[in-house]
Amino acid sequence: MARSTAARDLLTFRKCRSPLWGDDGAMEGTEFDSGINHGALLPLSQETVARVLYASQAKVASSVYAEMERIRAAAMRHNPAIGVYTALLYQSGWFVQWKEGPGDSLRQLMDRVSADPRHHSIRIVHSSRGPRMLPGPWSMAIVQRAEDASDMTDRVQWLRHRMETGEQFSPPAVWRQLSTPLPAALAARLPSPDAYQRILVCASATMASFEMIRWLALRSGQAVVRRRYAGSSERDVGTDLVDFLQDGRVVRVVAMARGGLTLPLTCALMPDFSHIVLLLCGTHAQNLALVHKVALACAGVVSPPVLLGMAALAAEHEEPAFTARRLGLRYVACHADPGHFSTTWESVQAELASEPGVP
Ligand SMILES: Cc1cc2nc3c(=O)[nH]c(=O)nc-3n(C[C@H](O)[C@H](O)[C@H](O)COP(=O)(O)O)c2cc1C
Repeated sequence: MARSTAARDLLTFRKCRSPLWGDDGAMEGTEFDSGINHGALLPLSQETVARVLYASQAKVASSVYAEMERIRAAAMRHNPAIGVYTALLYQSGWFVQWKEGPGDSLRQLMDRVSADPRHHSIRIVHSSRGPRMLPGPWSMAIVQRAEDASDMTDRVQWLRHRMETGEQFSPPAVWRQLSTPLPAALAARLPSPDAYQRILVCASATMASFEMIRWLALRSGQAVVRRRYAGSSERDVGTDLVDFLQDGRVVRVVAMARGGLTLPLTCALMPDFSHIVLLLCGTHAQNLALVHKVALACAGVVSPPVLLGMAALAAEHEEPAFTARRLGLRYVACHADPGHFSTTWESVQAELASEPGVP
């Protein structure tokens, strides 16, 4: 992904009172529910595109990932020239596509893709016009979870039904509900299925963020959900998450590999995180590199997540804090050993407790 394009397109982040795309016009002015940062983000760009998410039942004989790589190769031949950006998900026997671009190009592409024998039973679950959210041409994701295909079918049908009755969620909220719904017991506590708090964790070195997710899962008795993300190149990265109840609020904590921070899909989901925990466990240079990467991923987000820097010594915070602030991000220095998850999590809890108005 060319950074110049990404930087420009990142300026299109949004919040959504958006007429639906296409000529049907039936559901103009739907107000989207996309989670915690309600109302904080406004569209910055004049570029309005059609945005559509649709689910289809996959008909893939061999390796799903290999098939997704073939689809990516075709998409990278065709989509950039017509300005259509895509995130493709495989989940429990279904493909989900989140596509954004000029309406006519998108319609023509969808007609071609609909005829592809590798899937069938296509159902649109989101359709709107508005600023671009995906800042680059291709992302793809696989959720590594054994789930009954009928659970996914139920979610698709529920979203479809909501859409037909005039309510629809934002593209990121639809993506989350299809790919990583909350466990039922947690979802039952919420007025809306996407209204929970999201926190991202990244480590400047090692796999500490993933270890922290395992620690949180063990502590809360919840399961870790594992996913792989990839962009337009061959490399793929891991991103794990865990959902749990913390002081009466439903919280999702997501670990992201450093290499996944600037994938278009990660950037598109970034505005919905309230905080990013930075485990500053690397060298000075690695810690700074992480701050820079996070800033790139947050570029154009009007109300970016608050950075919670974790380092034991005050001196270790100085440059990351200075750099973050220079790049327009709020940095909170938490004096906690980033390898000691109970003190790290206590610092996060203290910060959450100090924030009024977050559910
Ligand atoms: C779920 C799914 C999503 C796809 N998305 C795209 C896409 O975004 N762009 C694209 O060109 N082809 C996409 N394809 C592949 C097309 O259906 C078609 O095979 C391809 O465009 C043909 O390209 P070619 O004529 O260069 O071989 C997708 C296929 C599937 C099954």
